[in-house]
Amino acid sequence: MCGIVGYIGKQKASPILINGLLRLEYRGYDSAGIATIEENKINIMKVKGRVKNLYNLDGIDNLKGTIGIAHTRWATHGIPSTQNAHPHSDNSKEFAVVHNGIIENYNDLKTFLTEKGYKFYSQTDTEIIPNLVHYYYQKEDKDDDLKVLRAVKNACADLKGSYAIELVTSHAPNKMIVVRKDSPLVIGKGDGENYISSDIPAILSFTKDFYLIDDNEFAVLTRDAVEFYNNKLEKINKKVESIQWSATSAEKDGYDDYMLKEIHEQPNAIRETIGSRLPEDGPCYFEDLNFTKEYLDSINKIYIVACGTAMHAGLVGKNILEKLCKIQTEVDIASEFRYRDPLINTQTLCIFISQSGETADTIAALKLAKQKGATTLAITNVIGSSITREADYSIYTHAGPEIAVASTKAYTSQVVLISILAIYFAELLESVDTKIIKNLKTEILKLPAKIEETIKVDKQIQEFSRKVFQEKDIFFLGRGIDCTVAQEGSLKLKEISYIHSEAYAAGELKHGPIALIEKGITVIGIITDPQLVEKSVSNIQEVITRGAKTLIITNQDLPQNHFDTIIKIPEVNYLLSPVISVVPLQLLSYYISKEKGLDVDKPRNLAKSVTVE
Ligand code: AGP
Repeated sequence: MCGIVGYIGKQKASPILINGLLRLEYRGYDSAGIATIEENKINIMKVKGRVKNLYNLDGIDNLKGTIGIAHTRWATHGIPSTQNAHPHSDNSKEFAVVHNGIIENYNDLKTFLTEKGYKFYSQTDTEIIPNLVHYYYQKEDKDDDLKVLRAVKNACADLKGSYAIELVTSHAPNKMIVVRKDSPLVIGKGDGENYISSDIPAILSFTKDFYLIDDNEFAVLTRDAVEFYNNKLEKINKKVESIQWSATSAEKDGYDDYMLKEIHEQPNAIRETIGSRLPEDGPCYFEDLNFTKEYLDSINKIYIVACGTAMHAGLVGKNILEKLCKIQTEVDIASEFRYRDPLINTQTLCIFISQSGETADTIAALKLAKQKGATTLAITNVIGSSITREADYSIYTHAGPEIAVASTKAYTSQVVLISILAIYFAELLESVDTKIIKNLKTEILKLPAKIEETIKVDKQIQEFSRKVFQEKDIFFLGRGIDCTVAQEGSLKLKEISYIHSEAYAAGELKHGPIALIEKGITVIGIITDPQLVEKSVSNIQEVITRGAKTLIITNQDLPQNHFDTIIKIPEVNYLLSPVISVVPLQLLSYYISKEKGLDVDKPRNLAKSVTVE
């Protein structure tokens, strides 16, 4: 979803801004634009379509300004067009802004400003912002250093909704102002130059030192300093956070696509997730957690709340938490949870999973859980992301930047992290035999090597993808924990290959979906739970009888002649099997998408981090 970049320093701003936007392309967008300031004049250039189209604009090379703002837009209000692209300026071109988020009361504000004589040239909610700032700026009678900031603050007081705003103005051509509420924004600290971005990877090649700005805080950037203010415009101090990710970790590194790179990065990502959390002698250890047996004994329910793939990781987590900790665990979709008055209280532990830590629904669900008195724990990949600033506790997957829209290493590292968390709880609760715990720990440590082994099915999967890439529907079946992987495999396929696909609990087939099975249809079965092998095989047999072609992902010894294709994966404790069995499914959706000639990393209509509701 929309991306923001900003630069203030000694260098020509436009190449830095465009470079930053290119690094944000993965977020999904439909138009792009930049604004720089030169000799007190704001120059705005925007295009519909790809960021690289900016290079074709007349005069783009002549922009000499060393201060600028930039944006990739993902349309919410108004069609994708050059007119609707950001930056937007006020009528007199004194203020230019880029904005992520949604201004919910923009219609009321537009009416108010129209009555005051302002005109609007786009269909966006954003265009009201520079005009509102202009309106308040005109009303300021005190002409001091904070005049622009006061106007921005007053404008923000009228805005309802979510926003990360970056502003430049001809009234203070050596400054940039930013503010955020419920939308991500970080400030990168350089030497004689400073950066702004909605996403760390966009400016990682320039700096690893960041300031994290909180909701309703303002920052005023000059070349040499960044000043922070609260919403009463009192100065506040911020410490610099250093990010460990390397700039190359956010690049393709020889792979054709980020998704393929990230699939291959899974062994290392999981090594990082494990880190020092599984010491050889002694219980699981989380630096940032201090749960006690008394607290865990007191909770009667765990809720796992997330969206999309992160929710699928939560489904695996439910199985492991219930098995090891004997605590009832519910999994919910964040956008449902937040509106259905869930039954939670001080005895509920709510776990929120989000790769980006910026998903609007997940953050709103977390805020609701806090209001209801639950303890909240965030599992995320992004240090300092919004979710970590809301949650009582945060633990990190440390999987490195995930750029492809289709989530791969985030899923496997989330499953591993929640497995370690379940063991940590079980050790405190003494809820399960120590031998079981020991075995699981050993198995977790072997996961990276087993994924490396699994990735070797690549050629077999590629071959299979050539046979099925033109299909209209593909079904995924599994029982128990394999059903959760079926759901993830199906989501991945839809996302990047645009093939309609459904995932079902195999036992549910007879209750309706089997009516859809006809000659030649492809059914993918996941079979890893030793206790459910026979039952799963019977279900697959039912679709074979009705003419389905079958691909089976399994670590069990199954009769070869029953199925069209069998992909054999390494054996592992069934509770952890999703970390392995998902890999061939990730590769399958990847290769199908490639066969179809689609843009794997930037699928249509999708954004990497869904920062609006
Ligand atoms: C995954 O392939 C998807 N792109 C999507 O479902 C994603 O997992 C979901 O939007 C949640 O994102 P988050 O983990 O950043 O909160």
